[in-house]
Amino acid sequence: MKKIAVVTGASSGIGYQTALDFAAQGYTVVGGARHLKNADELVKAGVVFHPLDVTDHDSVQDFVQFIKSTYGRVDVLVNAAGYGSFGALEEVPLDEARRQLDVNLFGIVDLIQQVTPIMRTQHSGRIINISSLAGQSYSALAVGTTSKNTRWKQ
Ligand SMILES: NC(=O)c1ccc[n+]([C@@H]2O[C@H](COP(=O)([O-])OP(=O)(O)OC[C@H]3O[C@@H](n4cnc5c(N)ncnc54)[C@H](OP(=O)(O)O)[C@@H]3O)[C@@H](O)[C@H]2O)c1
Repeated sequence: MKKIAVVTGASSGIGYQTALDFAAQGYTVVGGARHLKNADELVKAGVVFHPLDVTDHDSVQDFVQFIKSTYGRVDVLVNAAGYGSFGALEEVPLDEARRQLDVNLFGIVDLIQQVTPIMRTQHSGRIINISSLAGQSYSALAVGTTSKNTRWKQ
């Protein structure tokens, strides 16, 4: 039986390449994101796309339920959905700060909470969370964005 890899943020960047890499390694890959971009290469590699907004609990439930009912297992979960948001603390709108935590932190927690019961049942599974050195190292007054998903100041 082919192993199942689930990759969030599969429409772009790290998640996109990760989805392709798992497919090349022989995994069945389910990728999630809000919009499917660059679809051709994913489709050619056999990656199955399912819509996912990690900030929407119902969407996460629907995503995991789709995987459970279609494949019945999850061998690897890669949480790659996320974006960078930079600025001086006094300038970053609070809504933006909350939004980033919703995507980069609570979105991951929601996925993990819904996928770990599947992994427990099968007694195996691996979860990989994509973080950033920017979460650990300080960069003085970096303004703007390193990610096209950052919406503030655009
Ligand atoms: N690129 C780097 O050099 C680098 C280095 C270290 C860490 N990171 C971190 O790795 C993560 C991904 O970076 P990246 O460069 O791959 O960014 P990216 O190219 O902008 O891709 C971000 C992915 O996340 C998805 N996404 C964003 N919001 C989402 C949501 N609410 N629900 C579901 N999917 C969502 C996007 O798809 P949709 O917009 O279609 O939803 C897209 O597929 C970020 O957290 C970043 O900080 C990146």
